[in-house]
Amino acid sequence: MKTNYSILCFAAMLMFSSTGLKAQAQKDATDKKWWKEAVVYQIYPRSFKDSNGDGIGDLKGIISKLDYLKSLGINAIWLNPIYESPNDDNGYDISNYREIMKDFGTMEDFDLLLKGMHERGIKLIMDLVVNHSSDEHEWFKQASSSRDNPYRDYYHWWPAEKGKPPYRWSFFDVNSEAWKYDAKTDSYYLHYFSRKQPDLNWENPKLRQEVYDIMRFWLDKGIDGFRMDAFQYISKDTTWPELPKGYEKEINKYYGEGPHLHDYIQEMNREVLSKYPNAMTVAEGAGSSPEDAMRFVDPDRKELNIAYHFESVGVGNHVKDFGLVKYKEIFSRYDDYFKDKGWLSIFIANHDQPRMVSKFGNDSPEFRTISSKMLSTFVMTMRGTTFYYYGDEIGMKNIRFDSIEDYNDVDTRNKYLGLKEKGGDLKAFLEGQKQTSRENGRTPMQWNADENGGFTTGKPWLKVNPDYKTVNVAAEEKDPNSILNYFRKLVELRKNEPTLVYGEYTILDKENPNVFAYSRELNGKKMLILLNFSEKTASFNINIPLDKATVVLDNYSNTKKIKNNSLRPYEAVIIELK
Ligand code: GLC
Ligand code: CA
Repeated sequence: MKTNYSILCFAAMLMFSSTGLKAQAQKDATDKKWWKEAVVYQIYPRSFKDSNGDGIGDLKGIISKLDYLKSLGINAIWLNPIYESPNDDNGYDISNYREIMKDFGTMEDFDLLLKGMHERGIKLIMDLVVNHSSDEHEWFKQASSSRDNPYRDYYHWWPAEKGKPPYRWSFFDVNSEAWKYDAKTDSYYLHYFSRKQPDLNWENPKLRQEVYDIMRFWLDKGIDGFRMDAFQYISKDTTWPELPKGYEKEINKYYGEGPHLHDYIQEMNREVLSKYPNAMTVAEGAGSSPEDAMRFVDPDRKELNIAYHFESVGVGNHVKDFGLVKYKEIFSRYDDYFKDKGWLSIFIANHDQPRMVSKFGNDSPEFRTISSKMLSTFVMTMRGTTFYYYGDEIGMKNIRFDSIEDYNDVDTRNKYLGLKEKGGDLKAFLEGQKQTSRENGRTPMQWNADENGGFTTGKPWLKVNPDYKTVNVAAEEKDPNSILNYFRKLVELRKNEPTLVYGEYTILDKENPNVFAYSRELNGKKMLILLNFSEKTASFNINIPLDKATVVLDNYSNTKKIKNNSLRPYEAVIIELK
């Protein structure tokens, strides 16, 4: 289960005490940068729009939707990997970092896409997947061909004559084992993810130079930055110590954040990123505490720009466990640690998560629309760069497949096979996947009420959610009160209101189990955000008189005044305080 990614440790926090440092730091928090102000829309290319009827989304498909993307108001796009890949993990297993995957098109298509985006004022963030490559990458083919091949040290090996390597758990392997025996050279190689995703050896300076070259290649093409996949894992403790009991709870510490992690990122900054000062970088999986995350993005350290952590999406993986008080505490703790310097991203969904409305909202017919709008309000009014996942602007919900045959994801399939071998409870597993599987968030975009939601004229690679007849872009376009049109208003507001980008965040009524209330404040301007995360009318207690307050935007589209400090089910209100 992907939740393994979000197993967390709660480290003690270091606070700044020196006032000198603080004054300088405060400047950093409000220091203007395009990537702090950006609203990033994430596209899973396989599922966005198919242009040639083969059932797979592609670059030409995205090009055909550029005007739609512009109409959202978003100003950056993160594209999941589009490089050549045998697709064991849908592009996260790269066999050539300088070619476009055939399913997706050609380099000419890519150039047109980038041009079309830039013409519309949209920046492009590419995925950089270099913790591992595909086993079909030329480097691995060479490395695995003989022990003295010059590429051997591009990967991690354990010679069989030393016995079995110390156990390492694999996120995706059928047997959950991260060392795979390879008979050709009578050795084991390491793969934290699937066995077709061998981990690259960052200890090798040659490998690091290869990565920097790849980065320059894409930056020179004009892309605007990188989302860095599984980055905490690039440096490992290569003495391979035995794991202590309970290591699972601190997986980052034992599997990643190796002794040279930050040396390597600083080297990358010196050699590449410092030469492209406008490029934005965002690190996935920035450790397991605010302190760890800060190390990636503290400007004094000259590493990366934005960190994203998993703690908040880790809560609520099982809806029944969702606790708003805990949820609020996580966001508030991270914000507090980052209030003076460094920068975070705010996201509640992506291609590794179920749909946001199914997980944190309510996807029943009664509440799907209103709770989608409420969640969108949340991600657009918090401090941190907004990452918004395709399809959430129309309230797409979990697919909830009944049969393993419907799943494509290596994570679900391999866990199923592994469990089957052990004679585990497959029925219970499949039930659980309806809530947690990554596939829930990967179904094709629903454009209209035509067959397959207008995504493809062929057979879609993954089934389209059957609700497409009513949940689709065309229907939402027509309705002025749709989630889509509300999202557009939120984007406009965020882009034109620096208080929502740079303003200080303060949590209010923090023990309230139903309402998430906070203020944002910048240069004397104060905004208040009230969000009811429950399906009942809920009251709040914030000690701020609301009689003179102006409602700027609200998801019921009719809130003039807040009465009796109470909110309707899933109500979201943005207020300007006078
Ligand atoms: C990251 C990606 C995920 C992928 C994994 C291995 O977590 O977001 O989709 O499977 O890394 O690359
Ligand atoms: Ca296609």
